[in-house]
Amino acid sequence: MVIGAITGLVPLVSGLIVFFDPLRRKSRASEFLLVASLNALPEDGSPRKFSVIASRVDAWNKSPQTPIGAVYLRRTGEKAVQALNVVCPHAGCFVDLADEGYSCPCHNSTFALTGQISSPSSPAPRGLDELEVQIRKQTEVWVKFQNFRAGEAAKIPA
Ligand code: FES
Repeated sequence: MVIGAITGLVPLVSGLIVFFDPLRRKSRASEFLLVASLNALPEDGSPRKFSVIASRVDAWNKSPQTPIGAVYLRRTGEKAVQALNVVCPHAGCFVDLADEGYSCPCHNSTFALTGQISSPSSPAPRGLDELEVQIRKQTEVWVKFQNFRAGEAAKIPA
C-alpha cells in the first residue's frame, strides 16, 4: 500500500505543480510601456488621450497587443511629460477632457489639469492617478502603467 501511495502521489504532485505554474509567474503589471511620441504632444501643455497597448498575460491566457487602459499625457516642460490614468478614482468611469481639466460623466467629479480634485462637491476620494513617465531616445514617452483601487482615499495598486 505504501509503494502504491507513493507511486500515485508523484504524478499527482507533478501535475499540480504544472497546473499552478502560471499563477507563480511574475506579473507584467506596472512595467514601463511605450505609449506615444513626444512630438504628438502639443507644446502648449494641453493633454492628449492615448491608449496603452500591451501583451496581456493572465494565469493561462496570453493576448498579444491588447488595449489595457488609457492615459492623458501633457507636456510640463521641453522634455517632461505628466501622465494621468483616465480612470476616475471614485467608481472607475473614464474621465473626459473638460474646459480646464477633466470631468467624470458618471457622478460629476472634476479635476484640474494636474489631476487634483478641482471642486469640493466632487465625490472622488482623491485626484486622478499620476503615473511615472520616462522619456527614452529623446522622443519616446514610456509610462509605468498601473491601475489603482477605486473608492479609496489612498492610492492602492489594484
Ligand atoms: S465614477 Fe467618476 S465621479 Fe463617480
